[in-house]
Amino acid sequence: MMKDIAKVLFTEETIAARVKELGSQINKDYEGKELIVVGVLKGALMFMADLIREIKTPLRFDLIAVSSYGASTSSSGIVRIIKDIDMSIENEHVLVIEDIVDTGLTLKYLMKTLASRQPASLKSCVLLDKPSRRKTEITPDYSGFSIPDWFVVGYGLDFAQRYRQLPVIAVLKPEAYNIGNSQEKEES
Ligand code: IMP
Repeated sequence: MMKDIAKVLFTEETIAARVKELGSQINKDYEGKELIVVGVLKGALMFMADLIREIKTPLRFDLIAVSSYGASTSSSGIVRIIKDIDMSIENEHVLVIEDIVDTGLTLKYLMKTLASRQPASLKSCVLLDKPSRRKTEITPDYSGFSIPDWFVVGYGLDFAQRYRQLPVIAVLKPEAYNIGNSQEKEES
C-alpha cells in the first residue's frame, strides 16, 4: 500500500489541523442554529467523521451516494443518486460534505437536487478542490485544500476502490494506476 505512493501531499497532522480550522469556521457561521450534515459516500466518510467531531453546533447527519457514468461522465454531467438521504431537509440548515470537487458536475447536481427540497439554507464543504478542472461554475462554501490537476488517493479517496484507508492524501506511482477501470464508477 505505502509502497505505491509517489508523493504525500498532506500528512495526518496537516489534515487534522485543517479539519479543526474548518470546524471552527462552521461553528462560527452556524452559531445558534441546528444543522443537517449530508455526507457523500464513499469518499467523504473519513472527512465527515473527523469534521463533525469539531462541530459544536447540534447536528444530525445522513448519507447520500451518487454514481456517475464512465469516461463520458465528466463531459455529460450525468449523475445518479443511488442512495438517497432518509430525512426531510425542508426548512433545515443543510451542509453537504464531499471529498473533492473536480469538474464540479457532481456537486452542482447534488446541490441543485437538494435545493429543490427547500432547505432553510444549503452550503457545501469539500476537503479538496481542483479549480483548474472545473467544467461548470461552482465554488464550495468551505474548502480544505486547493490542489493542482493531480489524481489523489487516501483519507477516503480511492483509485478503483482502493487506497481509501491511507491516513494521508497522496499521489500514486504511475504503475499503481495501471489497472483496469470499470464502466460505472461509484462516486466519491
Ligand atoms: P466531479 O463531478 O468531476 O467534480 O467529480 C467529483 C468526484 O470525482 C469526486 O467525488 C471523486 O469521487 C472523484 N474524483 C475526482 N478527482 C479525484 C481524485 O483525485 N481522486 C479520487 N477521486 C477523485
